[in-house]
Amino acid sequence: MQPPTFDVLVIGAGISGINAAYRLQTEFPHYRFAILESRNNIGGTWDLFRYPGIRSDSDLYTFGFQWFPWNQSNPIAEGGDIRRYLEDAATAHDLKRHIRLNHRVQSASWDGRQWTLAVKNDTMTEDLSARFVIFATGYYDYHNPLDATIPGLSNFSGEVIHPQFWPEKFDGLNKRIVIIGSGATAVTLVPSLSENAASVTMLQRSPTYFISVANALANSWWARLLPQSVMYSVRRLWHLVVPQIFYQFCQRVPSVARWLLQKGVQAHLPPGISVNPHFQPHYNPWEQRLCACPDGDFFAALRSTKATVETGVIEQVDSDGIQLTSGKRLEADVIVTATGLKMQMLAGIPISIQGEKLDITEKYTWNGLMLQDVPNACLVLGFVNASWTLGADIAMKLTCRILKHMQAKGYSTAMPVLEDGSDLETRSVMDLRSTYVKRAAKDLPRASTQRPWVSRTGYFSDLYFASLGDLTQGLVFSSR
Ligand SMILES: Cc1cc2nc3c(=O)[nH]c(=O)nc-3n(C[C@H](O)[C@H](O)[C@H](O)COP(=O)(O)OP(=O)(O)OC[C@H]3O[C@@H](n4cnc5c(N)ncnc54)[C@H](O)[C@@H]3O)c2cc1C
Ligand SMILES: *[C@@H]1O[C@H](CO)[C@@H](O)[C@H](O)[C@H]1NC(C)=O
Ligand SMILES: *[C@@H]1O[C@H](CO)[C@@H](O)[C@H](O)[C@H]1NC(C)=O
Ligand SMILES: *[C@@H]1O[C@H](CO)[C@@H](O)[C@H](O)[C@H]1NC(C)=O
Ligand SMILES: *[C@@H]1O[C@H](CO)[C@@H](O)[C@H](O)[C@H]1NC(C)=O
Repeated sequence: MQPPTFDVLVIGAGISGINAAYRLQTEFPHYRFAILESRNNIGGTWDLFRYPGIRSDSDLYTFGFQWFPWNQSNPIAEGGDIRRYLEDAATAHDLKRHIRLNHRVQSASWDGRQWTLAVKNDTMTEDLSARFVIFATGYYDYHNPLDATIPGLSNFSGEVIHPQFWPEKFDGLNKRIVIIGSGATAVTLVPSLSENAASVTMLQRSPTYFISVANALANSWWARLLPQSVMYSVRRLWHLVVPQIFYQFCQRVPSVARWLLQKGVQAHLPPGISVNPHFQPHYNPWEQRLCACPDGDFFAALRSTKATVETGVIEQVDSDGIQLTSGKRLEADVIVTATGLKMQMLAGIPISIQGEKLDITEKYTWNGLMLQDVPNACLVLGFVNASWTLGADIAMKLTCRILKHMQAKGYSTAMPVLEDGSDLETRSVMDLRSTYVKRAAKDLPRASTQRPWVSRTGYFSDLYFASLGDLTQGLVFSSR
């Protein structure tokens, strides 16, 4: 039998795949590896999503790569700047030679010795083999957004747009736009569309917590005195630690956190819009993702009186507007359905292990990285309550440690084995109570509350485990 062509194949060239390429190149200079990317560009999420005003809600000191410091003074960046930053990072470290664009992985199978990936591009299909695979495929379905059932939407005579597929030639000039949703996307769209629309209404079923963060930071005098690299370290540490403290604060004294957050919102609202009911969520802060708005741009749009918020339930959409159950009616020329992502792990790629089809929903995750009974395969999961990239890099640190361990001991396979999972307490691999996470729970792998069968547990504990944790607990190494 032929030895595999590659040591490692990485699937996906988004933030996680680019980071994986850097870590592999740095830690294993002699490795043969490649990144297979189905799109025609790198960047993943930041290449796919093109709605007006798109930006991060994390700061780029932690959302960017540790090995390619974000050197701007604005922590939150626009989509286009993130795309350029990712390109610059890949170019600066000569990673592109490993990336094969327009290469879609159709299936993956393990035959007991190696992985075979069926790969397709515009002109051909080929099988590529590797000792090890890394799924850097993100966490949602690229082709289907979450299907929110909006009664009567098909009767609407105007334009209906989902932010995941924003039309290149959209013209919102003097249109009455209703955005259905209240997450990060809706909040980004409001100020941006308000610029030339006749009106923009954010129609939400339930309210969200907002926090206005300063983004247009003028470089302060001390920032100008310090060298770039020191400045970066200070900013990265700040953005690592302060959100954790805030998170813990929200967990311990939710009522105080709630009061503070609402106080903050109150200060920004124009007289006609009240905290109750529009900004009074039914859950505690950080049970769902908090919505950051840079320099309060969302509130500025509300104060401009072009934008407004409506809290209510849709009874029926008809040809020219939306009827709410409250009796209120919203006239619309355009409806934007910012109703969320459809979660999907491993990009839904069909996987088989020695001829048997793998059902990921039956498997526990091993330290948020591997799946029970799946040999030589890692999946890159980031954080959902902190910058994704921080978790994605921890995943690579742990992957590299496992590969080094195998190399040192002459092992050919590593596979998580759980003898009996019947008394493990289960919880979601993504620990947030948002609608889209809840709805997806049944399609995701399992996670528990104790190592090694956990998902992400927090930056410092996961970093500690990746650096010094016991690799052999629940992970079986073997050699042929
Ligand atoms: C609008 C938006 C804003 C966001 N903002 C933030 C933020 O501010 N902070 C934060 O932490 N997170 C944010 N996220 C989450 C974000 O998706 C992640 O942080 C990050 O971009 C994920 O990177 P990734 O490389 O893991 O996955 P992705 O960016 O999803 O990349 C996955 C890649 O895999 C490729 N792929 C999939 N299937 C296949 C296949 N079969 N064969 C080959 N290639 C394949 C895809 O084409 C894609 O390039 C945001 C998400 C969205 C949608
Ligand atoms: C900041 O980083 C970019 C790469 O993204 C680089 O082109 C630019 O020169 C850097 N600027 C400074 C001041 O270092
Ligand atoms: C398809 O893949 C093959 C092998 O990697 C490559 O030679 C060819 O140029 C690719 N075609 C396209 C259109 O990318
Ligand atoms: C569309 O409108 C017609 C006529 O008002 C109505 O009978 C029908 O139920 C509507 N369709 C949907 C999907 O609501
Ligand atoms: C994220 O959640 C974990 C618990 O799931 C917590 O330990 C950690 O501090 C949180 N991180 C941030 C930045 O909020």
